[in-house]
Amino acid sequence: MWRRVASLSPLISSSISSYLNQAAYKFKIWESFTTDIPTQAKGGLFSKGKAPFITFVLGGPGSGKGTQCAKIVNNFGFKHLSAGELLRREIASNSEYGAMILNTIKEGKIVPSEVTVKLIQKEMESSDSRRFLIDGFPRTEENRIAFEKITGAEPDLVIFFDCPQEEMVKRVLNRNEINAVGTVDEIFEQVRPVFAVDRMNCNHTESRVT
Ligand code: C5P
Ligand code: MG
Repeated sequence: MWRRVASLSPLISSSISSYLNQAAYKFKIWESFTTDIPTQAKGGLFSKGKAPFITFVLGGPGSGKGTQCAKIVNNFGFKHLSAGELLRREIASNSEYGAMILNTIKEGKIVPSEVTVKLIQKEMESSDSRRFLIDGFPRTEENRIAFEKITGAEPDLVIFFDCPQEEMVKRVLNRNEINAVGTVDEIFEQVRPVFAVDRMNCNHTESRVT
């Protein structure tokens, strides 16, 4: 187990800023070299019988994670779970943790691991699939430890989309990425400038694909 941990730790030791500082434009895959069987958490993912095949997908915003996940889903029949998306869904559902999650995300911090892991676990347990792509997780070493402790499972594969900052910034700007966390009016203040440009009166539209 220590061999896998050693390769994963430098990638997840600090949040997204560490991804942005990656210099090389590469696609890296680490397979886990697990030699011991993880302790099974009570009522964990193993309780359903066959152990799931778990892939962690890491990479900065604009690194192509989401796009490639969709392709993996289509080609290999995985179920795609995005940690950020599950957290946003929890905010929208007005659950007991909703307000805390909203504030944590607004402050640019990482949500307590136990909350995120339980959302991921619930989603995995209610799925018919046994193959999972977990995108945007783990973001910290603590996330990873909590996942193993709570679910009793370890990733079978870790994929890191290693993209230079310049390229990611270019892609994200091209996308008009809107941060959709906040009140309706706060979000609309970000939407407004996109339409405020006199595009609608133009005869031509510019579209660039990167
Ligand atoms: O991955 P994404 O950019 O969609 O995540 C949005 C936010 O959700 C992050 O900025 C962070 O605050 C929170 N998050 C988290 N733990 C994760 C993934 C995301 O706290 N594992
Ligand atoms: Mg995402």
